[in-house]
Amino acid sequence: MNANELRRKYIEFFKAKGHTQIQGKSLLPDNDPTVLFTTAGMHPLVPYLLGAEHPAGKRLVNVQKCIRTGDIDAVGDFSHLTFFEMLGNWSLGDYFKDEAIRISYEFLTSPQWLGIPHEKLGVTVFAGEEDIGIPPDDESAGVWRELGFSDDKISYRPREDNWWGPAGETGPCGPDTEMFIDMGKEPCGPDCAPGCACGKWLEIWNDVFMQFNKDADGKYIALKRKCVDTGMGVERTVTILSGKKSVYDTDIFAPIIAAIEGALGCKYGTDGETDRSIRIIADHTRSAVFILGDPKAVSPSNTGAGYVLRRLIRRAARHARKLGNESCFLADIAAVVLEQFTETYPELLENRAFITDELNKEEEKFLETLQKGEKEFEKLLPNLLKDPKKIMPGRVAFKLYDTYGFPVELTEELANESGLSVDRAGFDAAFKKHQELSRAGVGVFKGGLQDNSETAAKYHTATHLLQQALKLTLGPHIAQKGSNITAERMRFDFSHPEPLSKDEIERVESIVNEQIRRDLPVKMEVMNLDDAKAAGAVALFGEKYESLVKVYTIGDEATGVFSREVCGGPHIERTGLIGMFKIQKEQSSSRGVRRIRAVIE
Ligand code: ALA
Repeated sequence: MNANELRRKYIEFFKAKGHTQIQGKSLLPDNDPTVLFTTAGMHPLVPYLLGAEHPAGKRLVNVQKCIRTGDIDAVGDFSHLTFFEMLGNWSLGDYFKDEAIRISYEFLTSPQWLGIPHEKLGVTVFAGEEDIGIPPDDESAGVWRELGFSDDKISYRPREDNWWGPAGETGPCGPDTEMFIDMGKEPCGPDCAPGCACGKWLEIWNDVFMQFNKDADGKYIALKRKCVDTGMGVERTVTILSGKKSVYDTDIFAPIIAAIEGALGCKYGTDGETDRSIRIIADHTRSAVFILGDPKAVSPSNTGAGYVLRRLIRRAARHARKLGNESCFLADIAAVVLEQFTETYPELLENRAFITDELNKEEEKFLETLQKGEKEFEKLLPNLLKDPKKIMPGRVAFKLYDTYGFPVELTEELANESGLSVDRAGFDAAFKKHQELSRAGVGVFKGGLQDNSETAAKYHTATHLLQQALKLTLGPHIAQKGSNITAERMRFDFSHPEPLSKDEIERVESIVNEQIRRDLPVKMEVMNLDDAKAAGAVALFGEKYESLVKVYTIGDEATGVFSREVCGGPHIERTGLIGMFKIQKEQSSSRGVRRIRAVIE
């Protein structure tokens, strides 16, 4: 069984069970400010699990790309990954425990689908918890029993094991029933049962019975409509079903590892340290490709998702250097990842140039200082080792960050390799002090509309034209990062890795002016946020919106829609009223963010 076959079978099976296939969503979540990345298949479906109607119906299935960053430092062993694909099916107030379990069982065991022998399966169910008033899940256990599972194959487990969610800090969650495969090892003791972590039982699938919403106060509020959310990890399932010891031995990683071996002239499977570095390079490059290839891609930076991306690229680059690499090579490995995944994720191909450029730039920049930073670290080492507690002071770690671009986690890894730990609190304090100092020198940039005059309304409409013109000229990765309008000019900040060329600026201007000449109608509608997004309206990432929002559409059926954005307004009624649009300046605003200053005349 390979990954393509598994994805295909899963989707086909659930379609046959009346599920509609929906598109996987961006890796950068829309509806959850508490996390940086989409962490599970259910994440983009949170509003629907909380009660909204989904346009595709009550039974859904898809493949969702996910990133879990909690485990970055564990990557390098045989099983941890930062990026993974999750197969999921959902019932939004349709079937519940009985049907969910029967469907799961059929997919796992039927020879037409995965064909896993019944005897190899075991399950866990929720043992109940008085605090939240949920009794033991005898209902699920009863269904498993009817399907032929003896009591020793049904293990009741507490909240730590059999409760899932929320994906971030708040949101839908509930008890689950998990399915395991017996790997044939001897039980580790008399209590060894499905769910035991000794290695005998490997989890393959999880059916979550979404019954609660955890709110910001940490309270569990019962949902009016019960839902089912299931998750099957592609990498893990392929590993188990193809009888491999590790995900790195499957067809998912084989071509990536072969490319690394070829580029670095090393061999996987010969020595533990080399293997670990190869796995880190393989995993991190794959994740970086998916983050950079996302429609809402970020560039490497020092905050948020951009910082995670930077850590991934720099950690991969450092391990490549450990294996003797001297020059940029991650983009070559990325090309293999692209080849492998573009069929399932066509957005990667669309963003190919961006992926390659960003990887090259980040790797180049890091390699320039990596050597110096490592030398500096080695110089410091003898003194550091004299410390009886073997702690590297936070200010030293901060210097490596500030001068050589070493993410502190990388310094920690280097330090650990020499038997030292890093004073993280000290690092954080040094970091904060530095931030305060740099902020003191820069005025705080306030976004948003400053006045309601007719001129401001014209500028506001021009901003929408500009954003769309930038997307058309530079690519779909453009996202608004801020805007500021006065009666004299507009400023617009957006994500883009490099200065615009003269031609690009002219093209953007001419697209905007063309829409002004076309005198397109500007129409406002009030919609709920999900409908607005479903209608393709651009919304500001990270912004909190009310559930009802104003959507401004420029152009109509007759002229074709040119732009659609969620926005508070106000706007003018026709683009013809704007006048001439002129870009005065294009400059950097912060790393990965450009700023345009423009006027209308
Ligand atoms: N949301 C559940 C998981 O990620 C299905 O395991």
